[in-house]
Amino acid sequence: MCKKETILVTSALPYANGPIHFGHIAGAYLPADIFVRFKKLYGADIVYVSGTDEHGFAITVSAQQEGNTPKKHVDHYNQVIQDIFKKFNVEFDNFSRTSLKHHYKLSQEFFTNLHKANKISEKTTDQLYCKSCNMFLADRYVTGGCPHCEYEEARGDECPKCGNWIEATELKDPKCKVCCNTPVVKQTKHWFLDLGKFSDTLKTWIDSKKNWKPNVTNFISAMIEQGLESRPITRDMDWGIPVPLEDAKGKVLYVWFDAPIGYISSTMEWAEKKGEPDKWKDYWHNKDCRLVHFIGKDNLPFHCVVWPAVLMGQSDYILPTDVPANEFYNLEGKQFSKSTGWYVDLDGFFNKFQSDSIRYVIGANAPETKDSAFSWKDFQNKHNGDLADTLGNLVNRALKFTASYFDNTVPEASVLSEADHTLLKKIKETFTTLENLYDTYQVRRVCYEIMELARVGNRYFDEQAPWSSRKTDITKCAATMNCTIQLVKAIALAAYPVIPDAAQKMWHMLGYSHKIKSTNWLEEKLIQVPAGQALGTAEVLFSKIDDKVIEEEIEKLNKMVSDEAEATKEKNVPKITFEEFQKIKLKIAEILKAEPVKKSKKLMKLEVSLGKEQRQIIAGIKEGYSDPEKLIGKKVIVVSNLKTAKLMGLESQGMLLAAHDDTGLHLITPDSDAKPGSEVK
Ligand code: MF3
Ligand code: ZN
Repeated sequence: MCKKETILVTSALPYANGPIHFGHIAGAYLPADIFVRFKKLYGADIVYVSGTDEHGFAITVSAQQEGNTPKKHVDHYNQVIQDIFKKFNVEFDNFSRTSLKHHYKLSQEFFTNLHKANKISEKTTDQLYCKSCNMFLADRYVTGGCPHCEYEEARGDECPKCGNWIEATELKDPKCKVCCNTPVVKQTKHWFLDLGKFSDTLKTWIDSKKNWKPNVTNFISAMIEQGLESRPITRDMDWGIPVPLEDAKGKVLYVWFDAPIGYISSTMEWAEKKGEPDKWKDYWHNKDCRLVHFIGKDNLPFHCVVWPAVLMGQSDYILPTDVPANEFYNLEGKQFSKSTGWYVDLDGFFNKFQSDSIRYVIGANAPETKDSAFSWKDFQNKHNGDLADTLGNLVNRALKFTASYFDNTVPEASVLSEADHTLLKKIKETFTTLENLYDTYQVRRVCYEIMELARVGNRYFDEQAPWSSRKTDITKCAATMNCTIQLVKAIALAAYPVIPDAAQKMWHMLGYSHKIKSTNWLEEKLIQVPAGQALGTAEVLFSKIDDKVIEEEIEKLNKMVSDEAEATKEKNVPKITFEEFQKIKLKIAEILKAEPVKKSKKLMKLEVSLGKEQRQIIAGIKEGYSDPEKLIGKKVIVVSNLKTAKLMGLESQGMLLAAHDDTGLHLITPDSDAKPGSEVK
């Protein structure tokens, strides 16, 4: 057999600033986990690393919003995120953090090497500065119009809509993200990575990527051809990795400079834990190692321009071999968003559903070439139709029938019919197809091929009708069952990377006691389950999901959205200062006269006493108080310094306070002994 392939796989480091959702999983984690599981079976020497991205304004902004220090914040979310990965069965060889000491050291070394090689220059430039927050605004601290695509909520480093890089000073109508004020321009010194100096090497590198998706290579080539400008890689803030230069006090490395270095420091940590501290070099310093970065498309420029340049500026590091960049995965057509309630609560989800179901559903509809979306109905359809009715049914029929009529033991296939041969050939071909699909990250088609195999199996079973051959031709019946069991084994092996739990269960049902994970694809695909092997007990792999359960989820989603909208409305009520509040003069008044305004549905004409003076107020209170008699003598609170207004031709010299709820209108009334004219404070 040829030499083992050496592979290092990474998934984008998630920011430690909140839980991750299906969108992240579909983009950077599930496809990577599936690829890694396959390659491990295939016998590759492969390591899969990731970790949390713990620096940058993304962290400090959300820490501040949650009233935490950045440190506490990232400690918390590192844990939250790891727990989520466990639930999805995403198995890293190492999951690190960019706040670790050795990561600081490595990042500073990387910076120093680039600096010494004259690839970093120093410039004093205009930056946005918020006077009320007393800080420079960059990245996520500032929003405004994108100069490229006009999107209104672009950030100070990039536009989430068009993916272009932005200088914060180019933003149209910039606003401080913390206090909403308009920042001023102020000078500060920063260090810039001279990307232009890498143009030619980057161009040669990207041009060599013939097997990449053309939209990716075209996008990056275009960026290079437009001319690469120097990019600032330092920031004015104190949370982060200090810039290792004497004259850089108070400055830290830009998060996008240090984060990808996390791929290396995570591999180092893996090697350290393994007790072979130098082992990381077998990957990062090995030109035969295949380096694969799984990311979402929004991270392309950083992984295909900045990061390779940073690596080129070091000595001996390999460059990315493949960057499978996925499109976006939405929820029922709109982007997942925790803040608007448009998300799936994962605790709730995993209390009800299996991780294999969601892995398969996301995989079968992975956003490989265009955006795709999770929908509850589609989840139910794929789970019920594919996993339960097609795959589960096949396994169940095979096991039940063998248990009932062959003493739960694999029967002998002494004579094979043409249909049997065709089935076995289909298995062989599917293995070959899958090897290629797994190798080229085509998870959608992987899922399709697996399900196709199960469909073929069910058709075969129906056509061979072992329930009738059992009575007429027991040799044929035995062969059918033998072949069906070979098929179940093939599916378990083929599907393990996508649905590891179910595959392991199938393995047990086939009578194997070892872990499917520890087998070798190339060997195992040639081995048949031997006749005479005792099978395990049949288990239901996937039980169907009821309509009711899905309807509840859809209702829950709608409720979360309206609850969040309510909360946001509350949050977005403009805040006034105490000084502003003091301008409003409220007084106790007594209603002396009341009469409905003719032709008006709402208005009542009131005459009120403010102690020394009397006023006419036109109030929209007919709805709750249509009987004038009931108003007379009532004490109310009025805004006494409101400018006089005209309503239906009548002068109104003030306003009553009232509340409106679902039971109607209610006047705000003071205690009955309150004196008209007294000020409310
Ligand atoms: N934290 C970034 C994001 O969520 C991704 C960082 S990927 C890495 O968009 F390469 F920098 F690690
Ligand atoms: Zn501000």
